[in-house]
Amino acid sequence: MTKGHKSSTPHLFACSDSVVLEIASGFGEAIYYFANCHPDVIFTPTDPQKPCIDRLRELAANSHDNLMPPIELNIFVPSQWEKVKRSGPYDGIFCFNLIHLIPWYGTHTLLKYSSELLKDEKGFLALHGPFLREGMFMSESDRVFDEDIKSRDPDWGLRDLEQVVMMAGELGFRKEEIREMRAGNWMLILRRQ
Ligand SMILES: C[S@@+](CC[C@H](N)C(=O)[O-])C[C@H]1O[C@@H](n2cnc3c(N)ncnc32)[C@H](O)[C@@H]1O
Repeated sequence: MTKGHKSSTPHLFACSDSVVLEIASGFGEAIYYFANCHPDVIFTPTDPQKPCIDRLRELAANSHDNLMPPIELNIFVPSQWEKVKRSGPYDGIFCFNLIHLIPWYGTHTLLKYSSELLKDEKGFLALHGPFLREGMFMSESDRVFDEDIKSRDPDWGLRDLEQVVMMAGELGFRKEEIREMRAGNWMLILRRQ
C-alpha cells in the first residue's frame, strides 16, 4: 500500500463534528491514523472484502470512539450504497488507491454516488493514487506498475487525472487542488459545487 498521504490532508478535517467516509479502506491504515489525529471528526470505513471488514471492525473496537465499525461496500452494488447513505450524509469522502484497480466506468460510479452522499457544496472527495498526467506516464515505475496491474485484469490501469477532473465536473464537483505526493502519487481534492 502506498504511504505518504497522511500528513497532507489535515485541512480537510479542520471542521470539528464532521462526518467522513472512506471508500476502499483496505486494512484501515489511513483511517486509523486520521481518526487518531482528529478526535472531533467521525470516520466510517468501508471495503468489500471480508478480511478487511474483520480488521476494520477490530480497529473500531480498539480505538477512539470516533472510528465507526465498517460498512460493506463494493462500489458496483447499488444496495450497499443505500446502506452507506443511511449512515450519512457526509462532509467528506476519501478514497485512496482504488480507481486504477477497477474498470474506468467505476470512476464514474464512484463520483456519481459520492456526489449524492455529500451534504452540501462544502463536501469534499479526495482521491489519492498513481495517475497519468495529460495522458502521459509520469515515471518508468508508473508504466511498469500499469503493465503489471493490466496483466492481472485488462480493465485495470492508471487513470488520467485530467480526465477524472473533467468527469467529476460533469457530476457536480469542481477541482479544488491537485497535490503531488510521495512515491509518485497524486492527491486530487474535489469539492461539491
Ligand atoms: C490497494 S488497496 C487500497 C487500500 C487503502 N485504501 C490504502 O490505500 O491503503 C485497494 C482496496 O480496494 C478495495 N476494492 C477493490 N475493488 C473494490 C470495489 N469494487 N469497491 C470498493 N472497494 C474495492 C479492495 O478490497 C482493497 O481494500
